[in-house]
Amino acid sequence: MTHQEILKALSIEPVNPGACARGWIHTPGGKELASVNPTTGEVIATVIQANAETYEQVAATAHEAFSSWRMVPAPKRGEVVRALGDELRAHKEALGRLVSLEMGKILSEGLGEVQEMIDMCDFAVGLSRQLYGLVIASERPRHKLLETWHPLGVVGVVTAFNFPVAVWSWNTALAAVCGDPVIWKPSSQTPLTAIAVQHIANRVAARFGCEGIFNLVIGPGREVGQRLVDDPRVPLISFTGSTEQGRKVSEALGRRFGRAILELGGNNAVIVLDDANLDLAVRAILFAAVGTSGQRCTTLRRLIVQEGVYEELLGRLLKAYPSIRIGDPLDPATLMGPLVDESAIHEMMAALEEVKREGGEILYGGRRLERPGFFVEPTIVAAHPGMKIAEVETFAPILYVYRVKTLEEAIALQNSVPQGLSSAIFTTNLLSAETFLSPEGSDCGIANVNMGTSGAEIGGAFGGEKETGGGREAGSDAWKQYMRRQTSAINWSTQLPLAQGVKFEV
Ligand code: UN1
Repeated sequence: MTHQEILKALSIEPVNPGACARGWIHTPGGKELASVNPTTGEVIATVIQANAETYEQVAATAHEAFSSWRMVPAPKRGEVVRALGDELRAHKEALGRLVSLEMGKILSEGLGEVQEMIDMCDFAVGLSRQLYGLVIASERPRHKLLETWHPLGVVGVVTAFNFPVAVWSWNTALAAVCGDPVIWKPSSQTPLTAIAVQHIANRVAARFGCEGIFNLVIGPGREVGQRLVDDPRVPLISFTGSTEQGRKVSEALGRRFGRAILELGGNNAVIVLDDANLDLAVRAILFAAVGTSGQRCTTLRRLIVQEGVYEELLGRLLKAYPSIRIGDPLDPATLMGPLVDESAIHEMMAALEEVKREGGEILYGGRRLERPGFFVEPTIVAAHPGMKIAEVETFAPILYVYRVKTLEEAIALQNSVPQGLSSAIFTTNLLSAETFLSPEGSDCGIANVNMGTSGAEIGGAFGGEKETGGGREAGSDAWKQYMRRQTSAINWSTQLPLAQGVKFEV
């Protein structure tokens, strides 16, 4: 597929409206935004952003749609999500390619991202018949207690550039079956993938007559994002982004008692013990550290190696890194595409300056590639535990390597950072693996054994602790956050006994 064919298959025009609620809003009123191909630095297409009035129109539409959507039986809502999954299947190739074109991840990962959306739809369809509540034994005769889950209301979904479409589906597939309309504010770095998904969702909504359920608003965080976060008609905000931004979102929601699902920065570690299978470890480390050019929140950033295998593992990585093919993400031979933009390169270079200042040693990479677009070398740094720069998340392929003596030391080092998203251990020793998974082991939301930190399946709940924000998305019981719980006591007797034996006779 040529670039033109990709855009045509997904209805992307040279200039696109950046807002949709019961149909596209053709004059969204905001500034023009260019979407840049990070592989070449060239503009792919542009978007007219929304302004404050357009946000108001979108929010009012979503709010109004809620009043009827909440009364549609959940399995019927599931049929809409099934059709969404089918439509995504039909457009997987084109949408996966657009993700690679606009965001820069390699095609296999672009396609994987769309597969993640499809998986999420399948999961939500099943869930649409399983939104179970409880019947609880009452302490009073001829009484019963019920817990029922009801739709919550409009859900605001703020997504980041690195998973420009999958994270929308984590939230939207669940919200839709739970009875909630969605307002999506995608990253300004990846507006075209959002517009493509909106076209897909619009076709499905038109078929089922449920327009107003899937809404889109593209605009600056300070204007449009802030309105969404402050809007009392939006009881839940699911926010993916930096810890710094997430803190502001959390404070704003705290003030108005809004609910938050926060998926913020990670600083993920892999521990490799002396008894590890190093063949597995090397492959997993390469994908986790270099995949997506180090721009996943689950990217491996800190490699903690027991001293007996330190030299060998490092040697193998230093041999493998030069063979990672860097280039056009749409070329099937490429393993590492560009960073998302110029500022990402500056942040990486600034972090490496800091590395040198703090006494770290760059063992491999560290440079920008001299070619158009935003390409860098994947980088390995010999680090030491006091280094402050390794405690912050730099969204780039920098791998900090540490040498430790014991499992306890490794776990303490792993847990010493403010973030708590993903973690992993390589060991063939059951005792070590179970220690890592125990309450005195990893403090992260995700803890894997004999695999890397990234690439989670949708079936489990995804998210992390501490400065990662505590949110959980996707599988397991994440759906409960998109609903409100109602407890009901029903008296089917002719008496009025009070709980706790209280007497109140007139
Ligand atoms: C993210 O980087 O924001 O586990 C999400 C993974 C993916 C999701 C990453 N399934 O790497």
